[in-house]
Amino acid sequence: MSYPYQIKSFDEYKEAYQKSIEDPAAFWADIAQHFTWRKKWDTTLNWNFTEPKVEWFKGGKLNITENCLDRHIATKGNQPALLWEPNAPDEHNRTLTYSMLLEKVCQFAHVLKNNGVKKGDRVCIYMGMIPELAIAILACARIGAIHSVVFGGFSAQSISDRLQDAQAEFIVTCDGAYRGAKDIPLKNVIDDALIGNKTVKRVIVCTRTRIPVSMIKGRDVWWEEEMKLVEEAGITFIEAEEMDAEDPLFILYTSGSTGKPKGVVHTCGGYMIYTNYSFVNVFQYKEGQVHFCTADIGWITGHSYIVYGPLSAGAISLMFEGVPTWPNAGRFWDVIDKYKVNIFYTAPTAIRSLMGFGLEPLQGKNLSSLQILGTVGEPINEEAWHWYDENAGKKKCPIVDTWWQTENGGILISNLAGITPSKPSWATLPLPGLQMTLVDENGKEVFAEGDETVSGNLCIKAPWPSILRTTYGDHERCRLNYFATYPNMYFTGDGALRDKDGFYRITGRVDDVLNVSGHRIGTAEVENAINMHAGVVESAVVGYPHDIKGQGIYAYVIFNGKGINEALAKKDILQTVTRIIGAIAKPDKIQFVSGLPKTRSGKIMRRILRKIAEGEINNLGDTSTLLDPGVVEEIKNGKI
Ligand code: WTA
Repeated sequence: MSYPYQIKSFDEYKEAYQKSIEDPAAFWADIAQHFTWRKKWDTTLNWNFTEPKVEWFKGGKLNITENCLDRHIATKGNQPALLWEPNAPDEHNRTLTYSMLLEKVCQFAHVLKNNGVKKGDRVCIYMGMIPELAIAILACARIGAIHSVVFGGFSAQSISDRLQDAQAEFIVTCDGAYRGAKDIPLKNVIDDALIGNKTVKRVIVCTRTRIPVSMIKGRDVWWEEEMKLVEEAGITFIEAEEMDAEDPLFILYTSGSTGKPKGVVHTCGGYMIYTNYSFVNVFQYKEGQVHFCTADIGWITGHSYIVYGPLSAGAISLMFEGVPTWPNAGRFWDVIDKYKVNIFYTAPTAIRSLMGFGLEPLQGKNLSSLQILGTVGEPINEEAWHWYDENAGKKKCPIVDTWWQTENGGILISNLAGITPSKPSWATLPLPGLQMTLVDENGKEVFAEGDETVSGNLCIKAPWPSILRTTYGDHERCRLNYFATYPNMYFTGDGALRDKDGFYRITGRVDDVLNVSGHRIGTAEVENAINMHAGVVESAVVGYPHDIKGQGIYAYVIFNGKGINEALAKKDILQTVTRIIGAIAKPDKIQFVSGLPKTRSGKIMRRILRKIAEGEINNLGDTSTLLDPGVVEEIKNGKI
């Protein structure tokens, strides 16, 4: 498969960029014609950012799985589509060729249908990183059901909230999941999530760890038994459901500045075109290369760069069940050598954590197959960038620093590997189609004088094909969150710098969203969870720089009761957060305080709390508007 739209030089990039800005519809229509459509679209682009309303390729009929699977069968039916490395290095690995994957997807699509799933129904998927997760996703897409994958680290309460928000009637899960030395009882968590739930009709349980599970009659069925029925009937294929380009493909929940995660909705046509285009261009994918994205499919990175991007490009995508540090800190390098990985895409947190183990885990590793490296999810510091460049890439692999968000569907700012210039810790240039800009607090675009670097809030002035269409069940929320801060612009929530060459460096969130180990967590969500604890009166959560995680979570908590056992109370709070959100949202530091710095109108002055958490206690700025400035002294003295 060749990619006629793959950019081959910096000049070609500039030309493509220019074209994409002058006539976005013509630019993307030109790319879209290289995909499989049942019927061509009526209008390429229709949009306004006030409602907001964005439609790409409206009237076009397609099924994304025909583009990810069927269209590759003739030329590469026997080529691996998915390679799978299990958690334990001595367990058998698995290879699914394009033909095998298509067959499994079709069979599981029948299983879904047999269990009552119809086009448009929401299917919640809560599984570990096994091939069946990719199969379940694609099977939903095959029949037009809307998948909503929930990361395996989220708690029962989080799942329950998401099930309710999406009004999901179906769940696909596993008995358990292996992750490093741990095994996670996924089905038990689902059982807890379903207490009191009246909407879910069917739970399909795939076997992985075979820990004891309670299978409820009339509700729960085994994946393997259901598949066997289909296989025994000799069924190996299912006709793909014809979808409109603007029909929803999936919902993925993500954190924002309010207490409740939002269900970001992506649609079939635009998402497909953009994940493919960005995959092929950013990673400069060449036929036969092995692409290893270490993200979990529970996050957008896994959706776009393990499943849809690579498969729509006919690539070989490696899926890894385990973690980088188990059984030892050389695991990534072993996996790279075992599969002769060419493209390696991971998070700065993983790099920093491996740096902490020194160079010993790299001894004896070959790594000569590596050609391109990538990072995603958070700013990469220069030290980690150079370590990655020297030790993984041996200074011969371009590193792509890819900036994007769940709401974007695919990579928006990044160098194109080996094609456009890179600059350590800078995401660099926007991809074609992306009209980025920086604005000040009043929404006025800022421009540099001469050779200066400017800073501002990062916004986008026009839609690209995989921009979110809505937040599920609440369009107004989508408008308020992304399109209301600055008129006629999509606001990313990130701050950035732009240098004289037009390169962008992302400096981090400017809203109340934290980025912990590359995972997005809203401070309000964590506060809500802490406040659920019976002893907590009030809390305020901020981020602080953390050597490995990028950001750590610092919680200031007012606790009820004299003479409490602080150590125990902290543990109870952590347990509460684990119950309400999941272990990923546990505060790294908890400081008990008797009051919080508030303005006279009762607003918590987070700026001050952030400064204290960052250790800048002598530089707190103006505190004169505080109701009780004395409280700041106490907090400063008690800092941990
Ligand atoms: C941050 C992950 C700096 C950013 C794909 C964004 C980054 C949030 C980068 C989205 C990067 C992502 N450099 N920051 N290369 N990539 N971010 O939705 O703050 O999980 O807003 O999507 O991660 O996180 P999300």
